[in-house]
Amino acid sequence: MPNPDRDYLTLSLKQYWFAPPVALWRAIELRTLATETYPRPILDLGCGDGLIAEVLFAGEPPFSIEAGFDPWWSQVRHAPATDAYRFVQQAQGDAMPYPDDSFATVFSNSVLEHIPHLMPVLEEAARVLRPGGRFIASVPSDAFRRLLAGYRDRVEVGDFNGAQAYANRIDRRLEHYRYPTPKRWAEMLGRVGMRLHHTRYYIPTDVEMLWDRANARYGIYAGRWHWYRLLASPRLQRLGYQGWLRRWIVRRLSQRWRAAYEKEVPTDGVGGGLLVVGEKE
Ligand SMILES: C[S@@+](CC[C@H](N)C(=O)[O-])C[C@H]1O[C@@H](n2cnc3c(N)ncnc32)[C@H](O)[C@@H]1O
Repeated sequence: MPNPDRDYLTLSLKQYWFAPPVALWRAIELRTLATETYPRPILDLGCGDGLIAEVLFAGEPPFSIEAGFDPWWSQVRHAPATDAYRFVQQAQGDAMPYPDDSFATVFSNSVLEHIPHLMPVLEEAARVLRPGGRFIASVPSDAFRRLLAGYRDRVEVGDFNGAQAYANRIDRRLEHYRYPTPKRWAEMLGRVGMRLHHTRYYIPTDVEMLWDRANARYGIYAGRWHWYRLLASPRLQRLGYQGWLRRWIVRRLSQRWRAAYEKEVPTDGVGGGLLVVGEKE
């Protein structure tokens, strides 16, 4: 089973050195996801390139996730190389190619916020889950927009329209469609025959602000011509310096971002990320 004491910050920086803020968000996501149990068989809904599952289930025997799927071929074609999955295929969340009651866990990391029509996907997740099976999803929370540094900086000087416009730009850039509250998650899961078991916020306010500023610094929001994006571009791999750059980023940021990585959302507080755990009735 995943281990919450593993150093997901260093592991994520090694995987995502070319986009360090992505590594920070994912490391905290992984630390949060690792506090859950994942009864088998497991389905990874929207597995992408499989790197997250590879890190989350590191140390497990190969093929510990029975199935993963994703509609995006250029990503999903890399997932079998991770050895985490028994079967990987290209498919859509609203038409899962599995029989009813096939899985004990449906797991989904950073996917549901990107899907324009969510209910058919939740219906499918409920269909392929066994009764009593667990639905475990990590998503940006209902507080995500207002915890952005660019939003808070503008609110501080009374520029409320500018704050909304900033958050709208980030939504477009990251292709986020919605941020349900925990109450809304309970309603949506209830409509497809699942009960909300619990939710948990992660990414405290100052950590989301750090992440938002780091996105700007490392060119995540920029077009193609940003100094870090250029340095980390696969097209420059042949120049041979990227191994050094990767080691430098991993060493430097695994120290500099350690406190942010380990920081918890205060009890009764909110964070920019939300873990949603449901159960099929
Ligand atoms: C941010 S990536 C996350 C990938 C992977 N879960 C991870 O954590 O690395 C979002 C993924 O959602 C997938 N996705 C988008 N729409 C989807 C849909 N309708 N059904 C399933 N996956 C979808 C995308 O193809 C993409 O791989």
